[in-house]
Amino acid sequence: MEKILLFIVLILFNACGNTQYPQGKILYENFCVSCHMPDGKGLKSLIPTLVKADYLLENPLKTACIIRYGLKDTIMVNGNQYSQEMAAITVLSDFEIANIMNYIHSSWGNDMPFVTLAQVKEALDSCTIE
Ligand code: HEC
Repeated sequence: MEKILLFIVLILFNACGNTQYPQGKILYENFCVSCHMPDGKGLKSLIPTLVKADYLLENPLKTACIIRYGLKDTIMVNGNQYSQEMAAITVLSDFEIANIMNYIHSSWGNDMPFVTLAQVKEALDSCTIE
């Protein structure tokens, strides 16, 4: 019994990796990784990067709206143009969105500010993309 428990704890510990935002990482892996890739760099001309992306840096809280309502626009990210649609991901709670954002903000060499749940809620209340 103890061995099994230890095993489970080890697996959980391992799954967390060395991020401060284990839930954000797991959610990223479930909802974002297929397009934005494990290293956050996206896919060349199809999917924009999340790593040191000028688009992200200019308006970090917009990510909350992009996740909830999707994005269908032509955007420039670090000098490349993107015009594929990103579908809305409606199953994520405000809290889960905040966790994903904080995971992105602190991963792959990004050093972006921590966002609070209150900031995310406020941003979601005033999204202009729908
Ligand atoms: C099916 C593919 C797909 C998935 C899944 C996806 N995205 Fe995107 N994402 C895109 C595309 C394509 C764009 C560009 C949209 C446009 O040009 O209008 C984009 C744009 C973005 C942008 C703005 C551009 C940038 O690089 O800063 C952010 C931020 C973003 N996605 C975050 C996320 C997060 C977080 C998740 C998971 C919760 C996610 N995306 C899931 C395809 C995807």
